[in-house]
Amino acid sequence: MMNRREWFLGSASLAAGAPAAFANQSSTKKPVVISSANGLAACAKAMEMLRSGADTLDAVIAGVNIVELDPNDTSVGYGGLPNEEGVVELDASVMHGPSRRCGSVAAIQGIKTPSKIAKLVMEHTSHVMLVGEGALKFAEAYGYKREDLITEKARTAWLVWKESLKTEQAFNNWRSMDENLAADAAPMNRLKRAFPEINEETLAWAWQMATHPPYGTINCLAVNEKGEMSGVTTTSGLAWKIAGRVGDSPIIGAGLYVDQDVGGAGSTGVGEENIRVAGGHTIVEAMRRGMPPRDAVLEALKRVSRNYNDNKTRLDKLDIEFYALRKDGEHAAGSLWGSHRSYKVYSVNDGGESRHEPCVFLYGS
Ligand code: GLY
Repeated sequence: MMNRREWFLGSASLAAGAPAAFANQSSTKKPVVISSANGLAACAKAMEMLRSGADTLDAVIAGVNIVELDPNDTSVGYGGLPNEEGVVELDASVMHGPSRRCGSVAAIQGIKTPSKIAKLVMEHTSHVMLVGEGALKFAEAYGYKREDLITEKARTAWLVWKESLKTEQAFNNWRSMDENLAADAAPMNRLKRAFPEINEETLAWAWQMATHPPYGTINCLAVNEKGEMSGVTTTSGLAWKIAGRVGDSPIIGAGLYVDQDVGGAGSTGVGEENIRVAGGHTIVEAMRRGMPPRDAVLEALKRVSRNYNDNKTRLDKLDIEFYALRKDGEHAAGSLWGSHRSYKVYSVNDGGESRHEPCVFLYGS
């Protein structure tokens, strides 16, 4: 998960009112890849492929495949945290700028790389989105084998979530976001009794996951030296979700949007809040109207905030980030919360090593 506190770094002036000098000014002809904080390796892989002449969509998919296949990333693909039944269900979408086509899959089980299946939907069908069993059968028709996607680490967290249901601190799918996420530190004695074979560090992590279920996700956007653009978003979605819950990641216009004339945008964090503002589309349309990427991501965040009447106490529970890459290579990312000393980051590669850059933020100090 890109938990709100997990990806914060150092200090800088990044708030909504900070000088525009903090916006990234990239050159117009350089290839650029950006991604969420968990996408450093994805950006490097995508850039390597762009430099060897690969298509922009193939490049970003190859990038996120690294994270989808990584059992240690518990928010995406193989090793992702499961639904309430202990089954990993994945969502993904792709958009290819030059052909103006897109594809997505939602609530697909058994396939480690749902981004590749989203691309198959785009390439081989007249449809945009396949879900559930149909998406899995479609993948199998193209030679993919159904696999068990849950790792021992993810299963431990799921069992700890079940244990947490015996307490008042449990995360409950039938309560609103406002009512959830109030749990305190792990009741270690109780957990050690229930799971004597698991070490304390793992139990503390699993309790955090159980009571503050992550939304995970990786978004990756690229522009090549010809100005061609593509994007992908892929996730295991909300941990412990009701089976069949679909977040924003596979929703074209929410978790991902690319318009070859303008740029691309994506999101990580609480998918329901992004769906309510169609964040990807909102950001691209803001850039079309002339807003720089930095202002465009803040515009989407303001719409999320408006849905809570700008009530910062309620918004304090929300983890949501937006990413924007304009066709000329300028980029930005924004999160709801930050401070000058502690802010979120996103991943960038514009030709050298991948690096983290600071997110702007809507609220903080
Ligand atoms: N942003 C990922 C999800 O909500 O499923």
